[in-house]
Amino acid sequence: MPGAAGPFPAAAQLDKAPVQAEPLGLAGLQRLAKHLPRPTRAGPRCGTDYREEVETSSVCAFVTRGLEDIAAAEIGETSAAAGGIETRPKVVLTQASDVRGFRRLRTVDDVAVVSASSPSVHDLQDLISLVTEQADLEKTIEQALRTDRLDGAFSITVSAAHVPYGTSGVIEEAVASAISARYEWRHTELQRAPIDIRVFIDGTWALIGVRLFDEPLSRRTYRVVNLRGALRPTVAAALVRIANQGRGRPRIWDPFCGSATILSEAAEQGYEVWGTDIDPEAVEAARENLAAVKREYWNRIECADSTSPKTWKKHQSATALVTNLPWGKQVAIKSKQGLYDSVSAGTAELVRRGGTSVLLTTEPKLIMQRLKRDDAVRIEERRIGLLGQTPTILAVQPAK
Ligand SMILES: C[S@@+](CC[C@H](N)C(=O)[O-])C[C@H]1O[C@@H](n2cnc3c(N)ncnc32)[C@H](O)[C@@H]1O
Repeated sequence: MPGAAGPFPAAAQLDKAPVQAEPLGLAGLQRLAKHLPRPTRAGPRCGTDYREEVETSSVCAFVTRGLEDIAAAEIGETSAAAGGIETRPKVVLTQASDVRGFRRLRTVDDVAVVSASSPSVHDLQDLISLVTEQADLEKTIEQALRTDRLDGAFSITVSAAHVPYGTSGVIEEAVASAISARYEWRHTELQRAPIDIRVFIDGTWALIGVRLFDEPLSRRTYRVVNLRGALRPTVAAALVRIANQGRGRPRIWDPFCGSATILSEAAEQGYEVWGTDIDPEAVEAARENLAAVKREYWNRIECADSTSPKTWKKHQSATALVTNLPWGKQVAIKSKQGLYDSVSAGTAELVRRGGTSVLLTTEPKLIMQRLKRDDAVRIEERRIGLLGQTPTILAVQPAK
């Protein structure tokens, strides 16, 4: 990966730049960027090597925290990934010979071609050095096949966690000024201009890249109706993958389907699906969304109470239960304990028949307290980061 490790080769070049007292401040950083040499392209190789070389680009996939391994597995299965795969919190890094192949990924929120990254960015000046000395944005735009989208303007999207040297706003302003000074492009406040520079920082680890596609990968065309409490589609896709870990093609039931995000993801991958919700408005939304994937699935959604044993009996032929349990925040529920008791009992029965249950919940203990005493089941737990919360995915399977 270019520039994957620090320290930066900045010292020699900085000698030629005007000397400034510390700290440089934004104006100083802009002046510094102007004086640095433009990045140069590597010339043709010398020597005689007759092997055909396929040029690859470093690619970064942005994913939900806690689902990095699921996304890495999906990336590994696509023909797009041409090299090893490395995961870090919220990102998956790989090499690609054809970046267009990443468009098909379902568990990934967004993708960028990496221009530079470093594990040792300690302050704003280090970050600006990464942008101006290690990154070659013109080359990265070429690698991202976005040269035709370059009209002299660019936007910046910053994700910054555990950063002591500035808010996202400060970081955006500093990076924008450095890029403008260096490439003479104009920074736009647009959310996602055709050229969008992605800045990702987690502590001292930082990455600069160019986003690959006009739309985020997480956008779905089946989202005809947006309902409050709808699940992030890429998380729904991950739940479906977890439910399908080598046990044939599951027949999926979501007893709390809301607007059918999980079912739509599963239907897009060719699974048989059914859904239930107690709220007529959710049922309406679910029918429209699911029908956008497969028209004849419109009648696969019913309006019923999933705490009733009758509803569970009706769905006995399902081999996987995949659901996002009501959190009781955006959507009110009658009795949390009653609801969790029926899900635990239904899950135990389904698993005894050889099925799988994948539950996304903020209350894992309410499910675990009953199931962990059951020798017939095996439970895998994972925490994810979602909307400022840390819900748990419980994957419940037969013990053997
Ligand atoms: C967290 S939301 C599901 C969101 C859904 N995954 C989506 O992407 O839209 C939980 C859903 O459970 C439904 N619900 C609550 N209690 C229920 C019950 N007893 N039976 C069936 N559905 C219920 C709510 O109406 C709500 O739509």
